[in-house]
Parts: sequence; C-alpha cells; structure tokens
Amino acid sequence: MTAVVVLGSINMDLTTYVARAPRRGETVTGHELRTLPGGKGANQAVAAARAGASEVAMIGAVGTDAYGPALLAELAHNGVDTDLMRTVEGPSGTAHIVVDAQGSNAIVVIPGANGTLTHLPPGDEALIATADTLLLQLEIPMSGVLAAAKAAHRHTVRTVLTPSPARELPAELLAVTDLLVLNEREATALTGQENHRTALAALLEKVPEAVLTLGAEGCLYASREHEPLHVPAPKVETVDTTGAGDTFVGALAVALGEGRTMPQALSWAVCAAALAVTKPGAIAAMPFRSEIEDGDLGGS
Ligand code: RIB
Repeated sequence: MTAVVVLGSINMDLTTYVARAPRRGETVTGHELRTLPGGKGANQAVAAARAGASEVAMIGAVGTDAYGPALLAELAHNGVDTDLMRTVEGPSGTAHIVVDAQGSNAIVVIPGANGTLTHLPPGDEALIATADTLLLQLEIPMSGVLAAAKAAHRHTVRTVLTPSPARELPAELLAVTDLLVLNEREATALTGQENHRTALAALLEKVPEAVLTLGAEGCLYASREHEPLHVPAPKVETVDTTGAGDTFVGALAVALGEGRTMPQALSWAVCAAALAVTKPGAIAAMPFRSEIEDGDLGGS
C-alpha cells in the first residue's frame, strides 16, 4: 500500500459554466456558478486517497476566512491527514474558473494562504521522510517546493512534480525530481517545443522520467531507458476537465506505490482522469478506487 504526502495549494474553486469563454473585453452570460473545494495540492491528495492510498497527508495552508474550515473539512472527509495544515491570518486561496460547453477551462488563481508556504519546518520533513511518494505542484512559493523536494531526496522518497502553473524551474529542483507530469502547454512553456516527443526528449535531459498528459488522447510517457509509450484514454462525455490532471497524478502515485509496472500505472491513471472529466468540479468529480478498477483499460 502507498503512503503519499502532498505539499501544495488548497483553493476554493469559484467556477462559472458558460457556453463559451468570453474574449478580451467581452461580457458573456453563464448559466451556473459552483463553489467547490479544489487547488492542485488538495486535488492530488484527495485523488490519491480515493484511489486507495493507505495513508495520505497534506501540508498546506488555509486562511481565517469562511473558506478555511470548509476546505480543511473536505480534506478530512476524504481521509486526508490534516495535522500539518496551517491556518494563517487572511484569505484562503481561491481559483476563478470558467468552464465552457466542451468542458475546457481557464483559471485564475489568487494564492491567499498558499503564498505563506515559503519554507519547510522540521516536522514537515519528518512526515515527508515516512512517505513512499511526495507530490508537488507550483501553486505555492518555489522556495517551499524546493525545500520539500530536497527533503524527499535526502530520504529517498520518490518526488513527482506537476509544474503548474508553468514557470521556469530551477536546476536544483529538477536535479531532485524523479518524475515530471505535465500537460502540453506546460511542456511547451518549459522546453519551447510544440512536438510532444521532442518536448519529452528535452525534458529527459533534466529529469529521469516524464509523462505528458494529452487530455482525451491519454498520455505519453518517456524515460531515459525506454522509448516513448502512448497510453490511450477511454472515450467519455466531457463535462468539466478541472482537476483531471491532478486526478491522474494522485492515481498514478498510488499505482506506482503498489508496485504496478509503469504501463499498468499509466493505464489506471488515465482511466481515473477520464472518469474525473465526466462530472463538474475538481474534488467533487474524482473517482473512487472501485470506479477506476471497473473502468481499467488493463495496460500490461
Ligand atoms: O488543477 C485544477 C486546479 O487548479 C483547480 O482546482 C484550481 O483550484 C486550480 O488550482
């Protein structure tokens, strides 16, 4: 079984559903507003918990506004250990999301309390040392991400980094990252390459393994040892893609921690992500282990 620690963001997602996203300077009328827990860190933690990790703990911060207690309750309700979550003066993180009729989204994140995670207290390192896998993203300050990745490296804990929102990655972070999981836009931002295989090849100069998530097309995996492997996704009706990449990462961490081969783990993660896009919201849409198993593509 897998023990996963996540250091990252937790946000209240304020999502408007529209026929099509507004263009610059344009006003459009939406048809629904949903206020639901999200944030890339919290999403990955809940995804891992629902996928069947034996233990999941999150290190993060919420604010003293009304969202703070609701966000902590959501984690606890999903079986995520919140002992190392802080409550800090000021607002919680929020994400302002527009989802169109195709289920595609555009997101503005206001970090709020997430912005206080600038360093790693000793208690956090002690927790990371107990994990199989540390999951990191970039919605908290880079100094906090870097400190956690270095701590994981010291304790030979696998580090999976989702470089989102995309920004320049310090070489010292890449040097202690075991697996990068990123989407096409992020891969292009990091490498300057549009072509998937060329982008992956460029990433493998920096990290040993990388997965490019391709939405409805599944994912493309490459390592320094193996040729790129494309894993297709099951065909589903897409309602809302928010959090699908995070679901992928959480499920992948669990599958790898259980000793599945990389192709099997990728197949499982692709299936989890496909299920997540069939419902609105991030955490609200995440599948449970039994649902993933029912839909498993059976990669070998
Ligand atoms: O990856 C999806 C997440 O990005 C949303 O839940 C939102 O909070 C933003 O952080």
